[in-house]
Amino acid sequence: MSDTTTDKKRYFVASTAELESNDRVIAEIQGREIAVFDVDGEYYAVANYCVHQGGPACEGLLSGTVTVNEEMELSYDQEGEVVACPWHGWEFDVKTGEHLASSEYVLPTYDVVVDDCKVYVEL
Ligand code: FES
Repeated sequence: MSDTTTDKKRYFVASTAELESNDRVIAEIQGREIAVFDVDGEYYAVANYCVHQGGPACEGLLSGTVTVNEEMELSYDQEGEVVACPWHGWEFDVKTGEHLASSEYVLPTYDVVVDDCKVYVEL
């Protein structure tokens, strides 16, 4: 019988105040660069490693995206939730890590814990 429990460790990334004044903080944790994004007070941790060709995906422009509804009306949504990799512009949802055009491409995501105004990533 095998033990299926995993013991994750917490790694400090930033204070909530630091994340409030920056839209993201990138930290090196256990040899990986991980970005934590603040989206309206909710925190999301994403690998800063693009699944296209290894670029620093989380260092790119943070914006929203244009969508089209069934009536062919355009709208601008997800402001502050979409990061564009600076190498070739692939866009990812920072909440899920998914590429906007093709969900088969996903940046790894990590659990985030907030404790006493400190933001941690769990690995
Ligand atoms: S390496 Fe990120 S879009 Fe190409």
